This record gives sequence, structure tokens and C-alpha cells, in this order.
Amino acid sequence: MVYLLHRYFGRDGREEADELLRRQSGSEDAPRMLGAFNEATPDWLSFFMFTFFTDRDGKMQLESLAQSGFDPLSRTCRFMLTEEAHHMFVGTTGISRVVQATCDAMKAAGIDDPTQVERVRALGVIDLPTIQKKMNLHFALSLDLFGSEVSTNAANFFSSGLKGRYQETKIDDDHQLKDSTYPVLKLVDGQVRLVHEPALTALNMRLRDDYVEDCERGIQRWNKIIQESGFDLQLGLPHVAFYRQIGEFRDAQASPDGELLDAATWARRRHEWLPTEEDGEFIATLMQPEARPGQFARWIAPPRVGIDNRPGDFEYVKIAS
Ligand SMILES: [Fe+2]
Repeated sequence: MVYLLHRYFGRDGREEADELLRRQSGSEDAPRMLGAFNEATPDWLSFFMFTFFTDRDGKMQLESLAQSGFDPLSRTCRFMLTEEAHHMFVGTTGISRVVQATCDAMKAAGIDDPTQVERVRALGVIDLPTIQKKMNLHFALSLDLFGSEVSTNAANFFSSGLKGRYQETKIDDDHQLKDSTYPVLKLVDGQVRLVHEPALTALNMRLRDDYVEDCERGIQRWNKIIQESGFDLQLGLPHVAFYRQIGEFRDAQASPDGELLDAATWARRRHEWLPTEEDGEFIATLMQPEARPGQFARWIAPPRVGIDNRPGDFEYVKIAS
């Protein structure tokens, strides 16, 4: 971005770029503007979740800028997307490996019911219900990154040619959206309702829908592992109203099924749906470094193939003895 500002926008661009570089992102006084980037990443499972869910938001934002009529921006974003793909690969395969290790350990121990959390944890692997809770958290935080469902800014960016929709060129319509509408989930009179909004102002919602679909594909891979291991449990995305801080549902308390709850019920049940301190403490006990090439911590299965097609015992990092 700094490069583009310097190269194409004269003095204004240089001043903007200086501002960008000066911003102390992540410091206590100036936390990052978006909540998802201020969350702690205390363990590898969180890291994988972040790369799966939050980097995928990055992908969607870059995809929409890759459709820009300002060619230098479009080309920059297309280049950045190749990098983003690797980040998401890390998340998808990382969680696949965690799920695999859990299923393998449960099978070996003769556990049929994956919701027997204490029994599963005693095997030194992360139980599937906890993985589900982590998914709930990171999905909800990442949805917030799409901003308000209905946005005139988004409409202006689109109409001025700065941004496009996800895979704009594959969409068969007039690409102007002057008369069309788009269904938006909203909170109306205390209920979740589908409302038809002008498509131009609903572009954030549309991008978010494309994002959700993209997430679903990855989750199917994890569910396939669980199914093939013979367990009757499926991981899934929570409802978009669940645990939101931004947009239509910021003031609602919804269960992962999208049921709206009163504050007391939410407070009583949130530990079933979001990672608790105790969950975090358990995962922390598993985070023991395993530095021998070809050896993997018990809670994560070996990768099918290594990065860059390297063998499993490839020494990626040389640790000084
Ligand atoms: Fe990324």
C-alpha cells in the first residue's frame, strides 16, 4: 500500500504513506483497529484457527480489491493473494492434523463418544468439542471484519470502480447493481429476519456470504476425517448472529444455532460455546516443543507431505545446541 501511495498519489500519497508507517499497530495506546487482530494467540490451535478464519477474511478483501479498476492496486492484490493462499493452507492442514490426532487417539483408546471430554483429554489430545468452541470464536471474530452488512461506503467503493465483488468477472449481471436487491440477515423487532436490501449497499453482506461458503469447504475436510474415523460428530460454523461485536447482531445474544437468548441464559451457557480459561489451560499443557526431526507432538498428526514437498523428517529449522 505504501508503495502504491508513493508511486501514484504525489505528495498526498507520501503523507498518507508516512501516516501508515507511523501507526503503532498493536501497541497498548493504539490497538489495531480491528478486534480480531487484538485477540491473543496463546497456542498453536488458535494460530491455525486464525490462519483459517482470519486470513480468509484477508483473502476476501484482497479478492474484492483485485477487481479494482485501478490496475496497479488490482495487480498488487493478485500478487498478495498467492501469499494468502499459503496462510490458509497452514490453517486448513493444521486443524486437519489436530483432528486426525484426536480421532486416532480416541480410536486407539476405544472411545466411541467424542464428547467425553475428560477421557479424550487424558489421552493428551484436544477434544473435538473444544475445537468446535475455538471455531465458534474465530469465525465470529472474523465475521466482524466484514463491517456492517449494509454500507454506503461499500456501495461507493463499488460504484467508483475501486472494488468489485468476489470473482466479479464470473458473475452474470450488469455489474452496476442499480436496480437489484440482495437478501441480508437482520435483527428486526427482536427476531432474525431476511430483508431485501439494495444490492449496492449490501456488498459487505455478499462478500461475507462468499466467505462463509469458502469456510464451509475447509470444514468439510475436517468432517471427512472424523467420519472416516467412525465418529458420529460433525464440526460446523455457528450462526452469523453468534457472538458478534459489529453489525446487525452486535447487541443480540445468540446461541450457535441462532436462537436469541436473554442475557442471563447467555451468561450461563457461554462456556458451552466459547473457549473457557480452563480450556485454554488444558491446551497450554500440550504445547511442549518437539524439536527432533520426524517427531511430532502427540496432539498433532504428522503432515501428509511437508512444506515444499519435503519429507516428514526434513530439518526446516536448525536449532543451535
Ligand atoms: Fe495472511
